[in-house]
Order: sequence, then C-alpha cells, then structure tokens
Amino acid sequence: MTALTEILGTKYPLVQGSMARISNHVLVIAVSKAGGLGVLTSVGLDQTGLRTEIKKVKAATDQPFAVNLMLMMDNIADLVEVIIEEEVPIVMTGAGTPKPYMPMLLAAGVKVIPVIPSVKLAQKMEALGAVVVVAEGMESGGHIGATTTMALVPQVVSAVHIPVIAAGGIGDGRGVAAALALGAQGGQIGTLFLTADETPIADAYKAAIIDANDTATTVTGRQAGAPVRALKNTMTNKYLELEAQGATWAELETVVLHSLAKAAFEGDLENGSIMAGEIVGLIQTRRPVQKIIEDLFHETEMVIKHLNNFKLNF
Ligand SMILES: Cc1cc2nc3c(=O)[nH]c(=O)nc-3n(C[C@H](O)[C@H](O)[C@H](O)COP(=O)(O)O)c2cc1C
Repeated sequence: MTALTEILGTKYPLVQGSMARISNHVLVIAVSKAGGLGVLTSVGLDQTGLRTEIKKVKAATDQPFAVNLMLMMDNIADLVEVIIEEEVPIVMTGAGTPKPYMPMLLAAGVKVIPVIPSVKLAQKMEALGAVVVVAEGMESGGHIGATTTMALVPQVVSAVHIPVIAAGGIGDGRGVAAALALGAQGGQIGTLFLTADETPIADAYKAAIIDANDTATTVTGRQAGAPVRALKNTMTNKYLELEAQGATWAELETVVLHSLAKAAFEGDLENGSIMAGEIVGLIQTRRPVQKIIEDLFHETEMVIKHLNNFKLNF
C-alpha cells in the first residue's frame, strides 16, 4: 500500500475538507503552502469561475491541491472538462457517484478521492478506481451520514485495500492520533479550519464557532433524507419545528435556501446555517492556517510518544 502522503504529494497526511462556497483559493493556497491538501469548492461555480479559482491557486503555489465535486450539481460534466484541461491533480467527490466521470478522469491522470459514509460505498468506490477514500462520520459539520467516525473508520479500513482518510470530529492532535489508531492514514478537517485567519467568512461565524460548546450542534433534514449538522439557532429551531409538523419539502426549503451563505457571508447567525461539527466545543483560538497545521502535528507527535510509553497494567 502506498503511503497517503505519497499519493497526495503533501508533507502532512492532512486534507482541508471542502466547504461549500467557503473553501476558495485563499484558504486552499494557505493550506497547500502549509503542507496539507487544500480543496477548492466548486459549488455555485461555472466553467469560468472554477478555471479562475484554479489559476489563482496555481499562480500562488506549486504544491498539490484538489477540487471538490458535489455530484448532485447539474454542471458536473462542464466542471470535469475544466479540471482535466487545467491538470488538477486530485478530485474529491461527494453527494453521489462519480461513476460516469471516472473513465475520463482516470485516463487524464486525475486521482479521485470520494468522501463516503459507509463500507458499501467505500467498496464501490474502490472498484471504480478511487485511489483513496475519506470515511466521514456523522460528527462532521455540513451534510452527514449515519455512522460515527469511531465506528465507521475501522470498518472501512478492514473492507478496502486503498488508504483511508478519517473525517469528522478531528479538532487537535489527539483526533489525528485517534484516526491513525483506527487504521486511517490521515485526517480530513472542516470545522477547525472555519476559524482560520485565512478562511473567507464573516467574523460573526468564526466567533460563533469559538463560543460554541460540545452540545451546540443539531441535525436538520433527517426526514428529507439529507441531514445537515449546524449550530443550533433560530433557523434550525424553525426547521425542526416545521419538520415535526410534517411540513412539505418546499416549505422546509424556504427555511434553508441560501442559509449557509447568509451565515458565512452576511454574518446572519439567526437565519443562516452555521454549519459546524460536534468537535466545535474544543476549538477556542483563532490562528493562521500554518499555525493550525503545525500545532496539529506537533500535538499528534506528543500523543504518539505518550502512547509509546504507555504500559498496559493488567
Ligand atoms: C461549513 C461546512 C461546509 C461543508 N461543505 C462541504 C462540501 O461542499 N463538500 C464536501 O464534500 N464536504 C463539505 N463539508 C464537510 C467537510 O469537507 C469535512 O469532511 C467535515 O467538515 C469534517 O468534519 P469536521 O467538521 O468534524 O472537521 C462541509 C463542512 C462544513 C463545516
């Protein structure tokens, strides 16, 4: 099995999870320069928009980066064209199957890394030619599956032959070490990066992440089959009330429409969706990306040293 860092081409076994409309070139450049894999969001972008973002990353760094494709979007074929033309090294996929695009991407030498919530999908992705999978637990911020990171990661690791990255609930070096202990070769992080100095979101959103505690998140959209984890606020209360009353999809949609953008770019913490994972309570400082990543792996080394000295006494 090839080491994850060799496949990613990065110094650290770390992926900055894509964040819809948020993880633009500014965050991606900072992460890739600091030795992680920066992942560009393509949500809301057309061919020109994505090409511009990719060119900005390539102009700022020669380090590897990836583009995220949320496969329920209706312009995926157009975006794949740009990814191939611009020789993007890695594509991370979510929210659907990349099957129709795999032959084209693989033939162009693009590495495909799907984000998956179950063993079955991990095996399917491996069979399609995925080079790595991200096993994402339901602790994560944003759209989630049904299984926890703790339970999902070792089961995926045992079921596939390709390297596995763990996502969901990693907030410091203890989380990275835990992911490694479960058999993953690295970690993918979203929530912690929301507080990075370079992350292009409203200050109020970052402050809400710093203020939140371990029980601050909730999950909306379970009944619609599209669960999303975010901080509890007026919007999530309203959504959950409507959901309990059996509201139609269209009624629920009026509550969540553009809600991430409302929180992230207008700083509207009442009506916006402050997507964040359960690890949010651990995050108490704002730092530049480089410091976040250096701290993370310094802590990871400390944990591993500690474990090496650990004596089982029974
Ligand atoms: C605000 C936000 C937006 C996200 N948007 C996306 C997305 O567009 N595509 C995707 O694959 N994952 C998305 N995610 C998931 C992250 O990429 C990552 O897997 C997840 O945040 C990891 O769990 P953590 O939040 O506990 O670190 C999002 C997460 C957050 C917090």
